[in-house]
Amino acid sequence: MDKLKVMTIFGTRPEAIKMAPLVKKLQETEEIQSVLCVTAQHREMLDMVLDLFELKPDYDLNIMQHGQTISDITVKVLKGVEEILQEVKPDIVLVHGDTTTTFVGSLAAFYQQVAVGHVEAGLRSGNIYSPYPEEMNRRLTGHLANLHFAPTEGNYKNLVKEGIGEEKIFVTGNTVIDALLQVVKEDYLFDNPLLNQIDYVNKKVLVMTCHRRENWGEPMENIFKAVVEIAEKHKDVEVIFPVHLNPNIRNLAKQIMGEAGNIHLIEPLDYEPFANLLSKAHLILTDSGGIQEEAPALGKPILVLRTETERPEAVEAGTVKVVGVEKQKIVEEVDKLLKSPSHYLEMATAINPYGDGRACERIVGALKYHFKLSKEKPEVFKR
Ligand code: UD1
Ligand code: UDP
Repeated sequence: MDKLKVMTIFGTRPEAIKMAPLVKKLQETEEIQSVLCVTAQHREMLDMVLDLFELKPDYDLNIMQHGQTISDITVKVLKGVEEILQEVKPDIVLVHGDTTTTFVGSLAAFYQQVAVGHVEAGLRSGNIYSPYPEEMNRRLTGHLANLHFAPTEGNYKNLVKEGIGEEKIFVTGNTVIDALLQVVKEDYLFDNPLLNQIDYVNKKVLVMTCHRRENWGEPMENIFKAVVEIAEKHKDVEVIFPVHLNPNIRNLAKQIMGEAGNIHLIEPLDYEPFANLLSKAHLILTDSGGIQEEAPALGKPILVLRTETERPEAVEAGTVKVVGVEKQKIVEEVDKLLKSPSHYLEMATAINPYGDGRACERIVGALKYHFKLSKEKPEVFKR
């Protein structure tokens, strides 16, 4: 029998991190022919991950432009992926999460009547404008997909509530934990001298990231001003902020935070140093999706710079707190964590509601089961 042809499509840093271990697993699987297509919605930030995991795309649409709009990405991905699908004719396309590459890649596959498998399916914030446009991207992809790989039982329930057939959903855990476990090492040495010089024992290292579209403008100004106030008040804090390559964010960050001595604005880090930096941090401030899954696994308290989250599991477990985008509230919450050891300890519990490092194995198992290459259904991930 011919091999099952599985074409994976992704375009941004977080998709690449979370799909890299899956592509590796597909490549190792005898019965599968793996084809990798990147849209390069991101360029440098994508290439860093491809290099780290030694992945060579078979197709690269190279669409990134500075200042691109969501419509620019949509048009280029739709047309570009269509042509590749006509050439490759895969049995199934795999997409990840909630970016515009994800939604439009699935739409292109649907137009060619190619099956879609959605990795990291079923997360919902309940607000179509937050995260924006990701909540809608994820919902639309859910309705285009034929197979759904839901990280958690809660994600599974969200899909069932929307009328997705239970037999099409597999609860697998999140592949981000598979990736994280491959790169975090004890006694890791950074290439960046600043990161090696920092005294992680006597200083309180606060790692932050901030990039979401719904935070552009006033919310992001509030967040940056809050961090300046925190850095001024707490001289034992060192803030490390690897700034996203989006020029809007870089300019604002430089303008508001550039002068403070204990705030370090650095270039985006490769995944390996970044994950190891998280593991050495005292506290994390972020509006990222993926970091909300990684920090709990590393036992780091995390304050989420958003008004809602589609990842409630670690909030329920107490290691994540959604603090919003108002300056005073952010300062207060950080103050509490810095001043109260008991409050800090309550939040610094290592939990792993999102995965056990075996999500990719389950996804490949589900593909084999669905396409009748195996009679065995993969076991359900339980936290
Ligand atoms: C995108 C995704 C978002 C995801 C985020 C992860 C959409 C609409 N947004 O947002 O869901 O959380 O990626 O980071 O799909 N840039 C570079 N080099 C890079 C990457 C970005 O220069 O390697 C700059 C470019 O000027 C680009 C801009 O950043 O135009 C914005 O990139 P874009 O992919 O449009 O949006 P993100 O905010 O990164
Ligand atoms: N990350 C990284 N280098 C950095 C900042 C983040 O490798 O300088 C990783 C982080 O560990 C996580 C992912 O990138 O796995 C998150 O990406 P991002 O914040 O861009 O997107 P989101 O998760 O919000 O979709």
